[in-house]
Amino acid sequence: MELFRLQVLICAGGACISSGSKSIFQVMEEELRNRNLTDEVKLIQTGCVGSCDIGPVMIVYPEGIFYQKLKPEDVPLIVEEHFIKGRPVKSLLYKEKSTQKEVEKYRDIDFFSRQVKVVLRNSGIIDPEKIEEYIARDGYQALAKVLTEMKPEDVIESIKISGLRGRGGGGFPTGIKWEFARKSPGDIKYVVCNADEGDPGAFMDRSVLEGDPHSVIEAMTIAGYTIGAKQGYIYVRAEYPLAIERLSHAIKQAREYGLLGDNILGTDFSFNLDIRVGAGAFVCGEETALLHSIEGKRGMPRPRPPYPAVQGLFDKPTLINNVETYANIPPIILNGGEWYAKWGTENSKGTKVFALAGAINNTGLIEVPMGISLGEIVYDIGGGIPKGKELKAIQAGGPSGGCIPKEYLSTPVDYDSIKKLGAIVGSGGLIVLDEDTCMVDLARFFMDFIVEESCGKCTPCRVGTRKMLQILNKITRGEGTLEDLDLLIKLGEQISKTALCGLGQTAANPVLSTIRYFREEYEKHILEKRCEAGVCSSLYISPCQNACPLEIDVPSYVALIGEGRFKDALSVIRERTPLPGICGRVCHHPCQSKCRRGQTDEPVAIKWLKRFAADWEIKNQPYTHIPVPVKDRIEKVAIIGSGPAGLTAAYDLALEGFKVTVFEAMPKPGGMLKWGIPDYRLPSEILDYEIRYIEKMGVEIKCNTKVGKDIAFEEIKKEYDAIFIAVGAQKSIKLNVPGENLEGVIHGVDFLRKVNGGEEVAIGNSVAVIGGGNAAIDSARTALRLGAKEVTVVYRRLKEQMPADKEEIRQAEKEGVKFIFLAAPVKILGKNKVEAIECVKMELGPFDKSGRKKPVPIEGSNFVIPVDTVIPALSQKTDLDFVPEDEFKISKWGTFEVDRLTLYTGVDGIFAGGDAVTGPSTVTGSMRHGHIAAKYIKKYLDGEEVRFEYEPFHKTEIPVPEPSDEEIIEQPQRVMPTLPVSQRLGRDFAEVELGYSVELAMAEAQRCLRCDRTE
Ligand SMILES: Cc1cc2nc3c(=O)[nH]c(=O)nc-3n(C[C@H](O)[C@H](O)[C@H](O)COP(=O)(O)OP(=O)(O)OC[C@H]3O[C@@H](n4cnc5c(N)ncnc54)[C@H](O)[C@@H]3O)c2cc1C
Ligand SMILES: Cc1cc2nc3c(=O)[nH]c(=O)nc-3n(C[C@H](O)[C@H](O)[C@H](O)COP(=O)(O)O)c2cc1C
Ligand code: SF4
Ligand code: SF4
Ligand code: FES
Repeated sequence: MELFRLQVLICAGGACISSGSKSIFQVMEEELRNRNLTDEVKLIQTGCVGSCDIGPVMIVYPEGIFYQKLKPEDVPLIVEEHFIKGRPVKSLLYKEKSTQKEVEKYRDIDFFSRQVKVVLRNSGIIDPEKIEEYIARDGYQALAKVLTEMKPEDVIESIKISGLRGRGGGGFPTGIKWEFARKSPGDIKYVVCNADEGDPGAFMDRSVLEGDPHSVIEAMTIAGYTIGAKQGYIYVRAEYPLAIERLSHAIKQAREYGLLGDNILGTDFSFNLDIRVGAGAFVCGEETALLHSIEGKRGMPRPRPPYPAVQGLFDKPTLINNVETYANIPPIILNGGEWYAKWGTENSKGTKVFALAGAINNTGLIEVPMGISLGEIVYDIGGGIPKGKELKAIQAGGPSGGCIPKEYLSTPVDYDSIKKLGAIVGSGGLIVLDEDTCMVDLARFFMDFIVEESCGKCTPCRVGTRKMLQILNKITRGEGTLEDLDLLIKLGEQISKTALCGLGQTAANPVLSTIRYFREEYEKHILEKRCEAGVCSSLYISPCQNACPLEIDVPSYVALIGEGRFKDALSVIRERTPLPGICGRVCHHPCQSKCRRGQTDEPVAIKWLKRFAADWEIKNQPYTHIPVPVKDRIEKVAIIGSGPAGLTAAYDLALEGFKVTVFEAMPKPGGMLKWGIPDYRLPSEILDYEIRYIEKMGVEIKCNTKVGKDIAFEEIKKEYDAIFIAVGAQKSIKLNVPGENLEGVIHGVDFLRKVNGGEEVAIGNSVAVIGGGNAAIDSARTALRLGAKEVTVVYRRLKEQMPADKEEIRQAEKEGVKFIFLAAPVKILGKNKVEAIECVKMELGPFDKSGRKKPVPIEGSNFVIPVDTVIPALSQKTDLDFVPEDEFKISKWGTFEVDRLTLYTGVDGIFAGGDAVTGPSTVTGSMRHGHIAAKYIKKYLDGEEVRFEYEPFHKTEIPVPEPSDEEIIEQPQRVMPTLPVSQRLGRDFAEVELGYSVELAMAEAQRCLRCDRTE
C-alpha cells in the first residue's frame, strides 16, 4: 500500500464545483507534479463537505487543516508554505463568521464539531468515483454480512431495533415498511429509491448521491435481498446531472466488482439497479406519482391504500425509500440497531441531515442527532444570524412544513415535537428567517410554488390552493380584509382534509402556521397596510421611510442635503417630527438596518444626516421655521409628561390650533431626554432649543407640577376636553439582593436624574454597574466623567446580547469601561456603606422564550469585586399612583392597556402612549405614539368616532432633485468625527459625536440610492 505524507481533500460537491473547485484541483495537480510531490501528497476529490457557502474548500490531513474560499492563485502558496515548509497559510484558513476568528483544524470548527455523521460518514472524505475508497471505509461489508450471515428477518429486526424512520418526509418506520414488502406475496418485487428531492432549497439527497453513491447502492441491494426483489430503480431528477453521473459510474463499478448483477459475492442472490430520470415535478416525489412516472405514465398520484409495499411498480410489491433512509442502512447492519438507537429521542432515533439555509451565518449541509434543539442548530452549528439581526422564525419542512417562531428554540428536533408546533421535520429543509422576513410574503411564496406544482387531479388542491394564493396576493398588496384571514384558515383546513395526496394535504401548512404565530403581522398588512419587514413593496415608497417609526420622507431630505438645500431638508423632516436634533442623536435608527445601500456596502447614515440638518438651522437660521396653526380651536388638551411622546403630541395638537398644556413633574421638560440620556450624547442646548420651538407654537409647559401630588387627576379631567397620559416609566426595578439598601447603592435612572439635574453624587473610585441596556452604559460612562477610576459593567448574558446601542458599547470600551459578561450579583457587601459586590458566574443554559440562551448560575463560582458604588440599571416601570385605581385597564406589566391603533384607553377622552404603554422603549417609538394620540384626540374633539383610519405614507410637496443615474461605486459610510477620548472624561460632559461638516454631509447624502424613485 502506498503511504502518503499528506492527504489533500478538495471538495467536488455541486456548490464547490460552481465556485471553481475543479480548477483548484487542476492547478494543485500541476503544482504537485512540478514540485515532485506526487509521491508524498495524495490528492483526492470528494463529495460535499457541508460548508457549501465558503467553497471551494480543502482539508489537508493528517492534521485536518481547513482552507476556505480558495482561488487557483492560492495553490502555489499553500504548496510552498504548508506542504513543503509545514506552515499552514493563515490568511486562507477557515474564519468563524460572527467573530472572524481563524480556526485551523476541521474538528475545532463549531459547524463541524457538533455534528454526528452517519449518513454523511463518507461525504467529503472519500472520492465518490472510486469504489476502492468506499470499500476501504467498510463499504459493502454490510452487504457481505447480510448475504453470508443474516436471514431477511434478521435484517428487518435490526432496522426495527434501530428505530429508523423514513427520511423522505413522512417518517414511517422503515423496519415495518420492509417487513410489509417482504411479507407481500409475489415472485416479482421492486426496490425503489426516491431521489426526486423537489423541495425548494433542499439538497440533502443530491449531496449523498454525489458524495457517497455506493452507500445507496449497497443499501438497495440489501433491501432487494431482504424483501425478495431482483430489480431496483433510483428515481432522480434531471436537474441533478452530477448525481446521475456519479451514480451511473458507481453502478458500473459495483457491477464490475460483482457487487451488483448475478450471484453477488458468489451467492445465489442477484440484483440489478437502474436509474430513472424524472423531469423535476414536485409531485413526482410523492411515491405513487413517482411509480407512475417510472412506468412511463404521467406523474400523478393515486389514492392509497393499496400502498406500494402491496401494489406498487407495475402493480408489484415495491419497497420505496428515500436516499437518506437508505444511506443509514449499511452502518445499522454493521454496528447493530442498538448502536443507531443510542442517538435521538423516544420516537425519533438516530441522526438527521438538514440543509441549513436563509439568514444564518453558516449555511450548508449538516447532520445532527435527533433531539438536538432548534436553538443549538441555529446558534451553535449555524453560528447565529448575520449582521446582528434578530432571529424571527425557522421554516421547517419546505412547502409542506411550517414556521416555528423563536420562542420555541428549545424544542427538540424530533418528529413529534416539531409536528406539535404545526411544522414537520420533513425531508430536512431548514430555512432560518430573520427580522427582514415578511411572514405573509413567505406564505405567499410557498403557496405560489404549490399552485405551480399541483398536478390538478383533484379539485380541492387545484382550485383551493389557487384561491388561497389570490387571497395572499391581495393581502400583500394591502387589499385584504379580516374576513380573508378566516377564509384562508377555512380553505386551508378543508384542503388538508379533502386533497388526494400529500401535496394538497399539506399545502396549507405554511399559511396556517404563519397565521397561528404571526397573526398580528397579517393584521398589520390588512388594517394598517404596513409591512414592517419591508418586503411587500406595494405597501411602501422606500424601505427607510417604511422602517422609520415617524415615517419621515427620508429619501427626500437626504436628496436635499445632497444638493446643499439644508433648510428644505429640515422642513421635510419637520413634517414628521418637531425634534430633529434629538432624533438625529439618539434615535435607534431602524431605518438604517433596512437601508438598501447596506446591501452594497454600508447603510446611508440617515440619523446623522438628520442631525446635520437640525444643527445647521441652529447655527445659521435659528427659530425661522415656526409653523402657524391651521386654525384656532377653543378645546383644551392636557398632556401629562413632557417626554418625547408628550412633546410630539403637544406639537401636533398645537398645529391643529388646540390649547395645549403639558404637566411635568420635574423642574425641566424633556422626560428621559433631559433626565436620563446624558449631555455628552444629547446636549441640553439642543433639547432646550427644540422644546423652546414647541413652546413658540403656543404650548404651555407647567414644570414642577406632578399630577396626583401638585394637581389632582380629577381636576385635570374636569378642566380639559381631552387628556394624553405620557408619563413614561420612571421607577427603577430593584435587583432584589441583600445589601441593596446600603449607602452607595444608587439605581441607574435615579443616578442619571441627579447628575443631569446638576446634583453632586459621590461615587468614589470604583463603580459596578449592573445591566446591559442604554441606562447601564449611560451610567457607566457618566461615572467615568464624575471621576471614577474603575467602572465595571456586570451583565448576565454575552456582549452580542446586550440591548444597548452597539455604538454606545463601543465608545464605552474606548473610554475604559470594563465589562464582565456572564455574571450576576448575588449580594452587596458592606457594613453601612458599600464595600464590594459579590457576583456569581453564569453559563448559558437552554433557550428561553426570548430566543436567547437563559443564563444560569454556576454553583460555587462566586467572586467578589471591591467597589465604592453599585449602580443597578436593570429596567424601569410606570408609576401609576396618580390615577384612580380601577378606572383604567392595567396590563400585568403595570402599563396602560389601550387600543393599539388609536391609543384610546376607553375612558372618555383619555389616551395614553409612550413608555407608559409599551414599557421602557425608544425615543422615536414614543414620538410615534405622540403622533397617533394627537390624531385621534383631534378626531375625538371633532366629535368623530375614535376608530383607526389608514393613512398612506407621507410624501413631501417640496420639490426634490431627481436621482442621478451614475454608476454606484462602493464606498463606506462617512465616519462621524468624535471627540478624542483624552478630552471626553471631564465634568463638562462635552458631546462625543461632533457632527458632519457640510462636505461630509453632502457626500454621505449622495450615497443614497433613491429607492423612492427606483421601486
Ligand atoms: C438612560 C436612558 C437612556 C436612553 N437612551 C435611549 C436612546 O439612546 N435612544 C432611544 O431611542 N431611547 C433611549 N432611551 C429610552 C427613551 O428615553 C424612552 O423610551 C423615552 O424617553 C420614553 O418617552 P416617554 O415620553 O414615553 O416618557 P419619558 O421620556 O419617560 O417622559 C415622561 C415624563 O413624564 C413625567 N411624569 C411622570 N409622572 C408624572 C406625573 N404624575 N405628573 C407629571 N409628570 C409626570 C416624567 O417626569 C417625565 O418627564 C433611554 C432611556 C434611558 C433611561
Ligand atoms: C408532494 C410530495 C413530494 C414528495 N417528495 C419526496 C421526495 O422528493 N423525496 C422523498 O424521498 N420523498 C418524497 N415524498 C414522500 C414519498 O411520498 C414517500 O413517503 C417517501 O419516498 C418514502 O420513503 P421513506 O419512508 O424513506 O421516507 C413526497 C411526498 C409528497 C406528498
Ligand atoms: S392533492 Fe394536488 S397534487 Fe395531489 S393529486 Fe390532488 S391535485 Fe394532484
Ligand atoms: S438608499 Fe436611500 S432611499 Fe434607499 S433605503 Fe437607504 S436612505 Fe432610503
Ligand atoms: S459542495 Fe463543497 S462544501 Fe458543499
